[in-house]
Amino acid sequence: APTWTDVRELCAEMKDMSVLIRGAAQAIRPLSKKAFLVVRQSMSTVQCVLVINKDVVSPQMVRFATSLSKESIVDVEGVISVPDKLILGTTQQVEIHVRKLYCINRAVSNLPFNIEDASRSETEFMNAEESGKQLVHVGQDTKLNHRALDLRTPANQAIFYIFYQVEKVSRQILESKGFCGIHTPKLIAGSSEGGAAVFKLDYKGQPACLAQSPQLHKQMTICGGFRRVFEVGPVFRAEDSYTHRHLCEFTGLDVEMEINKDFSEVCDIVAELFVAIFDHLNEKCSEELEIIKRQYPFQPLKYLLPERKGREVLRLTYKEGIEMLKEAGVKIESTGDLNSEAEKKLGKLVSDKYNTDFFILTEYPQEARPFYTMPCDDKPGYSNSFDVFVRGEEIISGAQRIHRPELLTERAEECGIDVRTISSYIDSFRHCAPPHGGFGVGLERVVMLFCGLNNIRKCSLFPRDPQRLTP
Ligand code: 4AD
Repeated sequence: APTWTDVRELCAEMKDMSVLIRGAAQAIRPLSKKAFLVVRQSMSTVQCVLVINKDVVSPQMVRFATSLSKESIVDVEGVISVPDKLILGTTQQVEIHVRKLYCINRAVSNLPFNIEDASRSETEFMNAEESGKQLVHVGQDTKLNHRALDLRTPANQAIFYIFYQVEKVSRQILESKGFCGIHTPKLIAGSSEGGAAVFKLDYKGQPACLAQSPQLHKQMTICGGFRRVFEVGPVFRAEDSYTHRHLCEFTGLDVEMEINKDFSEVCDIVAELFVAIFDHLNEKCSEELEIIKRQYPFQPLKYLLPERKGREVLRLTYKEGIEMLKEAGVKIESTGDLNSEAEKKLGKLVSDKYNTDFFILTEYPQEARPFYTMPCDDKPGYSNSFDVFVRGEEIISGAQRIHRPELLTERAEECGIDVRTISSYIDSFRHCAPPHGGFGVGLERVVMLFCGLNNIRKCSLFPRDPQRLTP
C-alpha cells in the first residue's frame, strides 16, 4: 500500500513509487480527457495528473477532479513520474499520476481570493502589464482581513518559519552564554517606558495597564540575584503610529545582564547574538529565503565589516552619526532622538562608507532616552545607551541602567513620571543591585528588515495596529 509522503520530499529518485499525499487543491486545470491538479502542502506544491484510462481513471473521476473547489483538502494516491520538461509553477519537479482521489473537506466556491493570486510578485504584475495580461491584485487589507487564508501562501509560510528560527537561535545563543529565560507580568500597575502609549485597564477596581515592555521587572530580577536573564514575550504599545513599522502588539526579545566594566559588554552580546542569527538564516534557511524572495525580492543583508578580519560589527557614536548627517547636508539638532527619516539617511551613508547594513549607534543624548538610562560619567548630557540599525531602521534599543535609587527617583520625576506607580521598582534598588544593562528587540522588525520587507504587518501572524483588532 502507498505510504503517506510529505510533498516537499517528492523527488526524481522516487520515480515509479506509489505515494499518498494530503494537501489543498490550489489550482485545477481541465483539458480534454485530462485534468491537472496542483496540490499544496505548506511551502511545497506538486502537479497531479489525471488521464482517462479505462482501468484506473474514469471520465467521472476527471469530472469530479475538475469540479473540486479551490483550497479543498484532498487525498491523492498515485505513482511518481518524472517529465523531461521543466514543470512551471510548482516547487516539486515530479508529477503524480493519480490513481485515487478523495475530497476530505470541500472549500466554499467563493473564496475572497485564491492563493496563486495572493502569491504574485511585483515582477509578475509588471510582466503581465507589458504583455497585456490581466492579473488579479489582492490588496494588503483584503489579505489581512482573511489572514487564515492568506497565511497559506508559500512566502507567508516561509516568513513565519524564519521568525521562529530567529527566536530559536536567540534562545540557544543566550542560554549558551549563561542567560536564564524568564516571564515577567503583562498586567502591571503603571507605564514601564513612560509616556501615554499604554493600554489602560481596570484590574479589579485598580487602574492598571498592559506592559509596554518587561523593562522594570527584568531589572527587578537582576535586583533579585539573577545575573543574566532574557524573555521572549508580547509587548503592548497603544501609540497612534499608523506606519509600516509600528504594531500595537509585538513580540519582544528582552535581555538584561550584570555589567562588570561598562555597557560595551551589552553591545558585545548584541553583536554576537545577531551575527549568529544572521549566519544561521543564511546557512540553514536558504530555501525559505528563496521562497520569500520569489514573491518579495530583496538583497542579502550585509552585517559584518568587510575590511576587518574576524566577524566584527560596526559601532559608531551618536556624535559620529550626527557628524555624518551634517556633512551630507542634513539639518539636524545634535541633542534629540533621530527621526525615521534621519535614521534612514544615516543607514544609507553608513552603507556607502562602511559597506554594512547593520550597525550599533552608541551614547545617545540623555534627554532622548527613558528615565532609567544611566548618564555618561565623562560626557555630560550623554548616556550609556545605544540603538541598533538594520537597513537604516531601528531594531534594538539598549543601555546601562541606573542602579542607585536616589538618582532613579530624581530622573523619573524629571521625566514627569508619578513615582508612586513604580515605587516597588525603585524600592528594589534600595535593597541594592549590581551595575547592569540590557536591550529590547522587536522580532517582527528583525524579520521584516532582514528580508527587506516593506511592512511589519507581513511579519505578524495576526497583526494588531491602531485600526485592526481582528481577525
Ligand atoms: O525602543 P523600545 O521602546 O525600547 C524598550 O522597550 C526598552 N525597554 C528596551 C531596553 O531594554 N532598553 O523598544 C525596543 C524595540 C525597538 O527597537 C523596536 O525593534 C521594537 O522594540 N518596537 C516595536 N516594534 C513594533 N511595533 C512597535 N510599536 C514598536 N515599538 C518598539
